[in-house]
Amino acid sequence: MYVCLCKAVTERQIREAATQGAHSLKDLKHMLGVASECGKCAAEAKRCLKRALEELGHQHHHFHHGHHHHHHKKG
Ligand code: FES
Repeated sequence: MYVCLCKAVTERQIREAATQGAHSLKDLKHMLGVASECGKCAAEAKRCLKRALEELGHQHHHFHHGHHHHHHKKG
Protein backbone atom coordinates (compact mmCIF):
# COMPACT_ATOMS: atom_id res chain seq x y z
CA MET A 1 0.00 0.00 0.00
CA TYR A 2 1.30 3.42 -0.94
CA VAL A 3 1.86 5.90 1.80
CA CYS A 4 3.22 8.62 -0.44
CA LEU A 5 1.61 8.75 -3.85
CA CYS A 6 3.74 11.57 -5.23
CA LYS A 7 6.90 9.58 -4.68
CA ALA A 8 5.31 6.15 -4.90
CA VAL A 9 6.67 5.13 -1.52
CA THR A 10 5.11 2.10 0.12
CA GLU A 11 4.69 1.23 3.77
CA ARG A 12 7.27 -1.48 3.20
CA GLN A 13 9.88 1.04 2.10
CA ILE A 14 9.24 3.09 5.20
CA ARG A 15 9.78 0.04 7.36
CA GLU A 16 13.00 -0.64 5.52
CA ALA A 17 14.15 2.91 6.09
CA ALA A 18 13.37 2.44 9.78
CA THR A 19 15.63 -0.60 9.96
CA GLN A 20 18.35 1.51 8.37
CA GLY A 21 18.13 4.11 11.08
CA ALA A 22 15.40 6.52 10.02
CA HIS A 23 13.64 7.84 13.09
CA SER A 24 11.88 10.95 11.89
CA LEU A 25 9.93 12.30 8.96
CA LYS A 26 13.00 14.26 8.01
CA ASP A 27 14.94 11.05 7.63
CA LEU A 28 12.22 9.55 5.45
CA LYS A 29 12.25 12.65 3.32
CA HIS A 30 15.98 12.35 2.98
CA MET A 31 16.07 8.64 2.21
CA LEU A 32 12.89 8.13 0.21
CA GLY A 33 11.62 11.55 -0.75
CA VAL A 34 8.45 11.06 1.30
CA ALA A 35 6.45 14.24 1.84
CA SER A 36 8.72 16.26 -0.42
CA GLU A 37 5.97 17.09 -2.92
CA CYS A 38 2.44 17.81 -1.70
CA GLY A 39 3.12 16.86 1.91
CA LYS A 40 -0.29 15.22 2.36
CA CYS A 41 1.34 11.95 3.30
CA ALA A 42 3.35 13.43 6.18
CA ALA A 43 0.98 12.37 8.97
CA GLU A 44 0.50 8.87 7.58
CA ALA A 45 4.21 8.45 6.93
CA LYS A 46 4.94 9.46 10.50
CA ARG A 47 2.41 6.97 11.85
CA CYS A 48 3.84 4.26 9.67
CA LEU A 49 7.38 5.00 10.79
CA LYS A 50 6.37 5.04 14.44
CA ARG A 51 4.73 1.65 14.08
CA ALA A 52 7.82 0.26 12.36
CA LEU A 53 10.09 1.64 15.07
CA GLU A 54 7.92 0.15 17.79
CA GLU A 55 8.18 -3.23 16.14
CA LEU A 56 11.93 -2.85 15.85
CA GLY A 57 12.09 -1.84 19.48
CA HIS A 58 10.52 -5.14 20.45
CA GLN A 59 13.13 -7.03 18.51
CA HIS A 60 16.18 -5.09 19.60
CA HIS A 61 16.12 -4.76 23.33
CA HIS A 62 19.62 -3.38 23.45
CA PHE A 63 18.49 -0.35 21.50
CA HIS A 64 18.16 2.18 24.24
CA HIS A 65 16.10 5.29 23.95
CA GLY A 66 18.07 8.06 25.53
CA HIS A 67 16.22 10.98 26.93
CA HIS A 68 18.05 14.19 26.72
CA HIS A 69 17.06 16.80 29.17
CA HIS A 70 17.46 20.39 28.39
CA HIS A 71 18.99 22.35 31.12
CA HIS A 72 17.41 25.63 31.81
CA LYS A 73 19.68 28.42 32.59
CA LYS A 74 18.98 29.96 35.90
CA GLY A 75 18.91 33.72 35.82
S1 FES B 1 1.71 12.03 -1.20
FE1 FES B 1 3.69 12.26 -0.38
S2 FES B 1 4.36 14.19 -1.08
FE2 FES B 1 2.40 13.94 -1.98
